[in-house]
Amino acid sequence: MEHIIIEGGNTRLQGEVVIEGAKNAVLPLLAATILAKDGQTILRNVPILSDVFTMNNVIRGLDIDVVFDENNKEITVDASNYILDKAPYEYVSQMRASIVVLGPILARCGHATVSMPGGCSIGSRPIDLHLKGLEAMGAKITQSGGDIIAKASKLQGANIYLDFPSVGATQNLMMAATLAEGKTVIENAAREPEIVDLALLLNKMGAIVKGAGTETLTIQGVNRLHGADHDVVQDRIEAGTFMVAAAMTNGDVLIKDAIWEHNRPLISKLREMGVEVTDEARGIRVKADTASLKPVTVKTLPHPGFPTDMQAQFTALMAVVDGESTMIETVFENRFQHLEEMRRMGLHSEILRETAMIHGGQGLQGATVMSTDLRASAALILSGLVAKGQTKVGKLTHLDRGYYQFNEKLVGLGATIKRVKGDA
Ligand code: EPZ
Repeated sequence: MEHIIIEGGNTRLQGEVVIEGAKNAVLPLLAATILAKDGQTILRNVPILSDVFTMNNVIRGLDIDVVFDENNKEITVDASNYILDKAPYEYVSQMRASIVVLGPILARCGHATVSMPGGCSIGSRPIDLHLKGLEAMGAKITQSGGDIIAKASKLQGANIYLDFPSVGATQNLMMAATLAEGKTVIENAAREPEIVDLALLLNKMGAIVKGAGTETLTIQGVNRLHGADHDVVQDRIEAGTFMVAAAMTNGDVLIKDAIWEHNRPLISKLREMGVEVTDEARGIRVKADTASLKPVTVKTLPHPGFPTDMQAQFTALMAVVDGESTMIETVFENRFQHLEEMRRMGLHSEILRETAMIHGGQGLQGATVMSTDLRASAALILSGLVAKGQTKVGKLTHLDRGYYQFNEKLVGLGATIKRVKGDA
């Protein structure tokens, strides 16, 4: 099994880092390409991540032509011929985000079979809001043999109120509504930048989506959508991860082309701690004297609240800041597992349901730790940068889902970190 080995203790990250296109944007954007009956769709600035390869295979499984030009970070999709309407279990089962192909296949074909996504380590990850919304649009949905089977000769526009501003449900329903009869209104919709990016592509394809980025989306159905050319938005979570890494290591790092607007809740908390965050012409610069930082309380919320995908990384920062910090995770029910692993590095923390008390500033020691999910992996590696001695992080399959060349980028900023094969 591959490991990442970090020699920590006196790392000071300095320099510039380039950020990839957003994983959580490119996956729904790929699903949207299913809707184009005419022409090709080209996605640029695509991150080279295992989840992207998986989604490409899900779409190829529909007999759609997908070409991934990794050198140019571009994917070309041609869905103009007849497509199949059953997403292949072998790939859908690998990545629960595949569920967002359900809406596009159903809207395009009138029938869709997609395997029920499992839960994952951070939570049960239900899809009730996806299914309720599609039923409101006239779909008949049954389950058989672990598959979801959805039928609707023509989806009808509907008024949908989401019980929770689910990112995936908003994406699935927005895409389904583009080819429905009439107007669909989605209230209490997710407002993440990745939702805005998806609406941008859909409108380039000929859809009529209004209100993306607000809590109310209005989609006027059209008859056909065509291919388009689209740059994937930058990954605000990768950018945020490097902001936190700089803050933890007395660093001075320019996160190139980072988008201030996409990380306002994170930047506000970093500043509250005493981290210097400045918006420069070429990106966002983060500087910190870690020893002078103050503890804070953070609560994760749907955008524009503090992103749950930055929670694990931020607790690693809390661990090196002297005093009692509090992290409240309101989005997922089991997203503190990295704290159990960090205990092996000497972190003192108490977890009570959705609240973790972090007793920071006690010093961390290097240890062998196991990552349990994507963002936990990043948090453990960042902790290794500041821990005294050597830290080994295993189960890198999680990391590779969401971070491209993470250790190379950290080496470029001055970290002593390498990736080794086998049980080194
Ligand atoms: C997306 O997942 C992201 N994944 C997640 O990023 C991110 O953490 C999450 O949004 C929240 O921002 C992708 O975009 C591929 P949700 P998604 O539906 O769409 C409940 C990462 O690390 N819910 O907004 O699955 C659900 O249980 C990953 O990059 C229902 O109850 O998130 C959860 O508690 C992790 N019923 C909450 O909503 C539903 O039908 C948020 O889920 C759907 C969701």
